[in-house]
Amino acid sequence: MANLEVEFCGLKFKNPVVVASLETTNSPELIRECVDAGAGGMIVKTLTDIEDMARLTENSKYAILNEKNQLIKGKVNKNFVFYSRSGYSSTHYKEWIPDLKSLQKYAEDQGSHLIGSAGGKTVQSWVDICRTIEDCGIKLVELNFGCPHPAMMPGVHGGSMIGQDPDVAAEVTRAVCDAVDIPVMIKLTPDQSKPLEIARKVAEAGAAAVTATNRYTGFVVDIETGSPRLGGPAGIGGVWAKPLSLRWVNRIFTELGIPISGSNGIYDHRDLIEFIMTGAKTVQIGSVLMLKGIKFLPKVIREFEEFMDSHGYPDIASMYGIASKRAVRDYSEQFAKARMDIDVKVEVCKNPQCTICIQTCFYDALSQADGKVGMHHENCIGCELCVNTCPFDANAMHTPTEEQRRSGRFFQIPEAVYEVGKFSKNFDRGIKLSSAKD
Ligand SMILES: Cc1cc2nc3c(=O)[nH]c(=O)nc-3n(C[C@H](O)[C@H](O)[C@H](O)COP(=O)(O)O)c2cc1C
Repeated sequence: MANLEVEFCGLKFKNPVVVASLETTNSPELIRECVDAGAGGMIVKTLTDIEDMARLTENSKYAILNEKNQLIKGKVNKNFVFYSRSGYSSTHYKEWIPDLKSLQKYAEDQGSHLIGSAGGKTVQSWVDICRTIEDCGIKLVELNFGCPHPAMMPGVHGGSMIGQDPDVAAEVTRAVCDAVDIPVMIKLTPDQSKPLEIARKVAEAGAAAVTATNRYTGFVVDIETGSPRLGGPAGIGGVWAKPLSLRWVNRIFTELGIPISGSNGIYDHRDLIEFIMTGAKTVQIGSVLMLKGIKFLPKVIREFEEFMDSHGYPDIASMYGIASKRAVRDYSEQFAKARMDIDVKVEVCKNPQCTICIQTCFYDALSQADGKVGMHHENCIGCELCVNTCPFDANAMHTPTEEQRRSGRFFQIPEAVYEVGKFSKNFDRGIKLSSAKD
């Protein structure tokens, strides 16, 4: 049986599956339920002294949409889009004190960790909330620099507004790190162009880890009524957001090497695994538990373990960051890779009149000839689009012979430009991506 334990920010987690800070951690009862369901950790819903953010939660609105942007009633599947508006914990952070103490003990007794989450009104409030969390015996705190909603509340400065400003993010991080002894992790917002820069700044200011990322802000229209759903902009997420989150996990893992907790785009164990393989040590599971109930969690953890067993991963370390380590860092590495060439299996093509492969070849490598799909190897760049669009699976790629390489114009890239491999020596015509017939 695979060992699911992972060390993160100096704490040992029995598994990397952490329940994210949201409605499912907004009461002591729910947090206990998460512990009982086997979570490696739970992040309490953001504790605050911002009255409007507490009030917002009492005015929450949620819409679940399908891939056609229609409201879903009943069963939620992996294509879900969760559009919602909600604030921070509606219970003032000081009122949480007795519960935080007992919940921390309850979690620890079952090998789990309660993690704090803060969102303050002023720099001093961030410090006060985090000190309170530490005083309750909690051993890790997350600063919520990712919440999309404060930006929509006049007079409120918090969440993604801080997470978009490297200097302010660093200032708040430094103030908290100076004030507490427990590790601090920063929840990043994806609503910006420079998460990497923010991650670097907060790490320099003392953060032990980052969470990548909170959710995006969206705008969804009901075309039947011509009105925005939920009245206007709101937070938006779902598995569609996962590749966008993983982009930042990959960059932070590769370029900064600081510990990462993955978030934004989880449905099942497969998504958790993608985050870990990209470079997250723990992974936060959020909205899917709101939509399917906390009872969904044991299934995710069980299937995660089953995957590790069936794929021969003995522990988390054997999966950690492997995809990022295998990724090219820039396109010059991509260009240096051996190119492929089209191979249409005419006997497998059930309908040559369909021509979708020809329509989706933008390099004139395919055409119709004598009622069949004809190939022009000299034009194929090996992009694989026709392989993906063929409904009969009749198109495949093969490694071209050296002769094909030499005669193919798109393989002819001068050494000085990209390729350093053995085939590049005689090439002198340069890269040309315009129509092959010119
Ligand atoms: C309704 C709702 C409320 C949330 N509240 C908080 C919060 O109080 N603090 C916080 O840091 N993140 C909050 N989040 C963000 C989640 O913790 C999580 O980062 C996000 O939902 C992405 O993960 P997921 O794709 O698994 O849902 C909230 C998300 C939703 C959907």
